[in-house]
Order: sequence, then structure tokens, then C-alpha cells
Amino acid sequence: MATAKRRSIASHGDQVVTAVCAYSDFFRFFRSWVADPLRVGAVAPSGDSLSRLITQEIRPSDGPVLELGAGTGTFTRALLARGIRESDLTLVEYGSDFMRILQHRFPRARVLWMDASQLGNCDLFPGATVGAVVSGLPLLSMSTRKVMSILSGAFSHVRPAGSFYQFTYGLRCPVPRPILDRLGLKATRTGATVRNIPPAAVYRITRRQPFGITRRSSIPDGLTA
Ligand SMILES: C[S@@+](CC[C@H](N)C(=O)[O-])C[C@H]1O[C@@H](n2cnc3c(N)ncnc32)[C@H](O)[C@@H]1O
Repeated sequence: MATAKRRSIASHGDQVVTAVCAYSDFFRFFRSWVADPLRVGAVAPSGDSLSRLITQEIRPSDGPVLELGAGTGTFTRALLARGIRESDLTLVEYGSDFMRILQHRFPRARVLWMDASQLGNCDLFPGATVGAVVSGLPLLSMSTRKVMSILSGAFSHVRPAGSFYQFTYGLRCPVPRPILDRLGLKATRTGATVRNIPPAAVYRITRRQPFGITRRSSIPDGLTA
């Protein structure tokens, strides 16, 4: 009886800690959004439903995995729940506030404080390529040139049959068709959730010819940065 009571108090304590963390993440996120809305791209961290949706196809054999715009680490936690080892995670984050949180929460992951559009210039995975990229980047608020650099840079690290998962609050894929065409990529909607603020959809972006070469190229004709 006493043991059951102790367990119930401990479990209640865990729930309180989880709720406090969620609230403090919400306020931290909101403050960052007020300071730089275009960079942060959302008023609140992604919810559990979206985190599960964007990671649902990822398996332990996909490691190492690259996460772009990791923020407070909600997708990171979902990746760990999918069986990816923390040491197999590379988290790219541009905000110094979020970067410190990620270093503290995931001490065995590699946290890179950098602009994801520079990925093509870094030899991040010598001798190994990533099986999946999970992106929380606000692509809709970025220029065409930047979206192009992010995708071509990320795919330079991705295995031939690997995938890039991107969420969006918009009604269509946030990577415009001419960019997909130019890079030899295709996008497939894998699902959507209304249990997120705001509701969101997820796209899987892959190479059209997995064993062809995705060229790094310039801005497509007719598109401006
Ligand atoms: C919509 S939030 C991601 C939220 C994250 N999934 C979460 O729930 O905490 C977008 C994130 O991308 C980061 N970001 C924006 N532009 C970036 C860039 N060029 N390179 C790397 N990170 C970037 C922002 O700092 C922010 O943390």
C-alpha cells in the first residue's frame, strides 16, 4: 500500500516536471519568435503528434541522422524514441539560445551552431552518409536561393535511397516544383495532423533516380532569390 502510494506520488511528480518543461519551452520559443519571427518560423514548439508524424518512417538502420533547425529538440526526442542512437544524431541550429538547450539536453549528440544553407561546404560525415534528414526549418520564409542551398547541401550527405523529411503549415510542399526538378528530386506528402499549433503536413523528399547524381546547381531560370 505504502509502495503504491510512493509510486503514485513519483509518477505525479514526473507529470509536474514534464508540464513545467513544456511551459518553459513554450515561453522560450515564443520569446525567440518575437525577437526573430522569420528565423524561428513558429510561435510554439512542434507538438508530439507532428514529431511522431515526421519521424514515423525512420528506422534505427537510418542512422546517422541529420536534423535541421532542431529548436528545443521535440523532433530529436521522437528520433530517439524511433531507436536512433543519440550519438548518431547531428543537430544543426542557427539560434544560439536553442543551440545551448540542445547541447544540454542531448550531450551525446553532435550539435552544430551553423546556418543550414552552408551544409554543402562541410565534410560532416567522412566515410559515412546519412539515411535520413529531418527538417524543422521554416522554408516558406526563406529565399529560393537559400532553399536551394539547403536541399543541395543536405542531399550531398544523404545515401542514394535516403530521405529528407520536411513539415509545413502551408497547403503545398514548401519546396517549389522548379527547385525539385532542378535537383532531380520528388516530394510525396506522407501525412498531416490537426493536433499541432498550427496544423501541419509532412513531405518526404527523395531523389528521382536514387543511384544518379544530384547536381549542385544554380538558381533555376525564372526564379529569383
Ligand atoms: C519552426 S522552428 C523548429 C521547431 C522545432 N521542431 C521545435 O519544436 O523546437 C525552426 C527552427 O529552425 C531554426 N533555423 C532557422 N533558420 C535556420 C538556418 N538557416 N539554419 C539552421 N537553423 C535554422 C530556428 O532557429 C528554429 O529553431
